[in-house]
Amino acid sequence: MSEQNVADRALKDKHRAMWASGDYAAVAREVIPALGPVLVEACGVRAGQRVLDVAAGSGNVAIPAALAGAGVVASDLTPELLEIGRADAAARGADLEWRQGDAEALPFGDAEFDAVLSCVGVMFAPHHREAAGELVRVCRPGGTIGLVNWTPEGFIGQMFAVLKPYAPPPPPGAQPPPLWGDPAHVSALLGDRVEGLETVRRTVRIDRFGKPEEFRDFFKAHYGPTITVYRNIADDPDRTAALDEALTDLARRHDLGEGIMEWEYLLVTARKRA
Ligand SMILES: C[S@@+](CC[C@H](N)C(=O)[O-])C[C@H]1O[C@@H](n2cnc3c(N)ncnc32)[C@H](O)[C@@H]1O
Repeated sequence: MSEQNVADRALKDKHRAMWASGDYAAVAREVIPALGPVLVEACGVRAGQRVLDVAAGSGNVAIPAALAGAGVVASDLTPELLEIGRADAAARGADLEWRQGDAEALPFGDAEFDAVLSCVGVMFAPHHREAAGELVRVCRPGGTIGLVNWTPEGFIGQMFAVLKPYAPPPPPGAQPPPLWGDPAHVSALLGDRVEGLETVRRTVRIDRFGKPEEFRDFFKAHYGPTITVYRNIADDPDRTAALDEALTDLARRHDLGEGIMEWEYLLVTARKRA
C-alpha cells in the first residue's frame, strides 16, 4: 500500500471512531428526523427505483426511502451506525440493504442507481472532489443526485466555527464540511457532469432542547465531532469552560423562544447528464 493510502486509511479509521463515539443515532432520531423525509420527497423517490443513501448513518434517508417502496442501499463508513439503522428498519417494517463503504471510494458499480442521496453525510468526507466524483459515477445517466448540506452561515456551520479554535489541526488536504453548504462550491464540484442543478436554502425547526445548556450537553455527550474537540482540551479546564460558554451562547443567540431554533441547510438537487 502506498504511503498516501496508509495515511488515508488511518484518517478514515479516525473518522469512523469519531462517528461511532457518543450516540449519533440519537441525534438523527431526536433532533433531525425531519431531514431524511425532506430529501426523499424533494427527489421524488418512489417504488421501483434503486436508491443509494451515501453516509447514511442510521438511515435517516434510507429508511423513509425504503418505506416509499424504493430498493435502497444504505452505505456508511461507520458500521456501528448501520447496525443501529438495521434494527430500527426492522422495527419500522422497512426492508433494505446496509453496506459499509467510504464515500470517496464507493463499493458499487458505475451507473447502478436511479437516485444517489446524502443527508448531512457526504459533506463529512474529507476530500470533496473525490466524494463528488463518486456520487456522479454510481448514478445512472438521467438519474437524480440529492443532498442536504449544513450551510456555513447556519447553526451547525456556526457550531463548527465555534469548535475550530479548540479542535486538533485538520489533517493535510482535508476540506471543511460546511463548504458543501455553499452553492458555488457544490456547483464547481459537480460541474458539467450534471444538469438542472438547483440549490435552495431552507431551515429545519429544532424543538428538542428546552434551554441552550441542554443543546450543549446533548451535543457534548452524543455528537462525535463535538466529543472529539472536548477530548482535545480535556486537560485544560479553562478552555473547556470557555467552549462550554461559547456553545451555550451560540444556542442562546439562535433561540427563537422556548428553545425553538431554525437550522439552515442547502437542499441540492441535480440530474446526471445523459
Ligand atoms: C452527521 S452524520 C449523517 C448521517 C445520516 N445521513 C443522517 O442524516 O442522520 C454523518 C455521517 O457521515 C458518515 N461519514 C463520515 N465520513 C464518511 C466517509 N468518508 N464515507 C462514508 N461515510 C462517512 C459518518 O459515519 C456519519 O454516519
